[in-house]
Amino acid sequence: MNKNLIFRGTEIHKSAYLDEAIFITEQKSVFMQSWLYLCHGSQIPAIGDYFTTELASQPLVAIRQKDNEIKVLYNRCPHKGVKILPETNGNSGRFLRCPYHAWTFKPSGELLSIPVKTEYDPSVLSECEASIGMKAVDNVVCYRDFIFVRLSAQGLPFDIFFGDALSTLDNMIDRSPKGALRVVGVPLRHRHHCNWKMVMDNQTDTCHPMVAHESSAGEAVNLWAQADQQGAQPTAVELLSPLMSPHAFFSEMGIRIWANGHGHTGVSNSIHKDYSEIPDYWESMVESYGEERAQQILSDTRHNTVYFPNLVVKGPIQTLRIIRPVSASETVVESWILELVGTPQKMLERTVQYNNLINSPCSIVAHDDVEMYERATEGLKSQANEWVNIARLYDPAECWDRTTQMSGTSEGAMRNFYSMWQRMMEGGNGE
Ligand code: FES
Ligand SMILES: [Fe+2]
Repeated sequence: MNKNLIFRGTEIHKSAYLDEAIFITEQKSVFMQSWLYLCHGSQIPAIGDYFTTELASQPLVAIRQKDNEIKVLYNRCPHKGVKILPETNGNSGRFLRCPYHAWTFKPSGELLSIPVKTEYDPSVLSECEASIGMKAVDNVVCYRDFIFVRLSAQGLPFDIFFGDALSTLDNMIDRSPKGALRVVGVPLRHRHHCNWKMVMDNQTDTCHPMVAHESSAGEAVNLWAQADQQGAQPTAVELLSPLMSPHAFFSEMGIRIWANGHGHTGVSNSIHKDYSEIPDYWESMVESYGEERAQQILSDTRHNTVYFPNLVVKGPIQTLRIIRPVSASETVVESWILELVGTPQKMLERTVQYNNLINSPCSIVAHDDVEMYERATEGLKSQANEWVNIARLYDPAECWDRTTQMSGTSEGAMRNFYSMWQRMMEGGNGE
């Protein structure tokens, strides 16, 4: 065995969750060379609209151009490095202006003007890197309005990196009779004192809900059982109670993995499967797609889809979480909601309620998980064990370069994730 190996098939060395040097390598080797989700086109609908963010420690801004294309620039003044756009979003107007010495730039990033430019020798200035303007990110893909970037020249092409995993985004978009989504509001942001991979592990950890969430979801089930149960089940009970499903339910629902670390829970069944019907929604879907296709779209109720390295999508309830590593032991989780364009208001209301109940910093469910991450961060400092175990339903013939389905309680999706992580940490990019 390679003695530097951090993932060894069924175990991950605890340093992967604690070590700052590993965190720095991760940013360079994993995050810079992966396709990272930046924002959704609906967040910057008009020409000049921009959205700023930070990915792999790089300040970035996505701007809609005159021709409607989206360009991603490094949010850094080429003069002395000032971040030009401090707000999360807004509109650039005709040009971007640096607040320090008023250099201006076209929305494409090209240098437009320098105050008292005569004080620069033109031949000296043209030799300077700064004269080019704000640098653009070369690798940008807008996939059905989801904008992704790859910040390194190295790495897999977009289609190969994601492959069939894009089917989860497709399904979420197709749930709109208009085939379109719209991001609503700002995300719920939650800072966790833990490593970002603990949050990713949790997304396909189907053996924890009935245990860790007993005090929250279990209480909802108990309260409803004690109620006189006149009328329909409240939406809160409908959303919370599937988390208390027994082990057999999670086992039967299945897990699917794809190459390059992606995967999802909820293949043949899911905690999202039995939500009550919302009046007029089915009819609008049939009108747009025909009955057979509408049925096909709505019966695919995938639970959590993990897009390597740090995006989690729940298609049937239209939420999207970005897991942002801050340091080895600090992580910010952003939970965004999307509206299915052309659907009754009640659909969005249910999504909002789900996000508040399950994903919010004020939720009764998210705290259960956060407590586990933080206790794991504490416990891993112990010298008792060097390794974290992910051996449940391990199959020595497991293979990560093709689509595979497995039992819903397998930790195979975590092993698939770490197989990609290890390859990238060793300098490969998943090929
Ligand atoms: S730092 Fe931007 S104009 Fe000087
Ligand atoms: Fe959980």
